[in-house]
Amino acid sequence: MAKVLVLFAHPAFEKSRVHLKLVKHIPSQQGIRFHDLYENYPDFHIDIEREQQILLQHDIIIFQHPFYWYSAPAIIKQWMDLVLEHGWAYGRTGKALTGKIMLNAISCGGSLQSYLPTGKNNRKIRDYLLPFEHSATLCNMEYWPPFVIHGTHKLTDTDMHLHAVQYEQLLLALADDRFSVAEKSTCNYMNDLIPIPSSIQS
Ligand SMILES: Cc1cc2nc3c(=O)[nH]c(=O)nc-3n(C[C@H](O)[C@H](O)[C@H](O)COP(=O)(O)O)c2cc1C
Repeated sequence: MAKVLVLFAHPAFEKSRVHLKLVKHIPSQQGIRFHDLYENYPDFHIDIEREQQILLQHDIIIFQHPFYWYSAPAIIKQWMDLVLEHGWAYGRTGKALTGKIMLNAISCGGSLQSYLPTGKNNRKIRDYLLPFEHSATLCNMEYWPPFVIHGTHKLTDTDMHLHAVQYEQLLLALADDRFSVAEKSTCNYMNDLIPIPSSIQS
């Protein structure tokens, strides 16, 4: 069993449709911990030692957030700036996170087509997430493909429910160590590893 940490950030959670649904589907079982950064640190004063201790207790770190300005909400950057310290997370003596896994679980307004080199955003989601990928590499972690929900503005309640069930299945599969190295290194999104009805593949 792997221990999964969901580091959640949504600065306007009270207005959320997608993440509200996703959060409700996060399994409450031993080995999966939900950690809401805005709720814990509304003033952005992050308790570095506490966060580092939490990281040490987990194998898979998921940043769950809406995709904002081609990136993540501000508290995630603040968290990374402060918690991933030199000499702890990276650098000659910084080996605390070695071998752990990092991935993003995001929702975005843009469709899958808009995040193609030929689409209006010009680049793939994976390109925009490169700062996460490289930060993971610097910290001797493995970066896995993201879980992505596209086209949030057009999602029906049924679509959202199905995406939330898919996310729930993903978290259970991660906790169960169910993915092979080959699977995760060949898929575009982690979504591809959890089958869903074709009606919601955007
Ligand atoms: C401040 C802000 C910035 C956003 N930036 C992007 C963006 O860069 N790319 C994109 O595809 N969607 C963008 N969106 C759309 C959000 O990603 C989308 O509304 C959100 O994922 C929906 O999730 P929610 O219902 O939980 O809020 C942005 C929305 C806001 C409010």
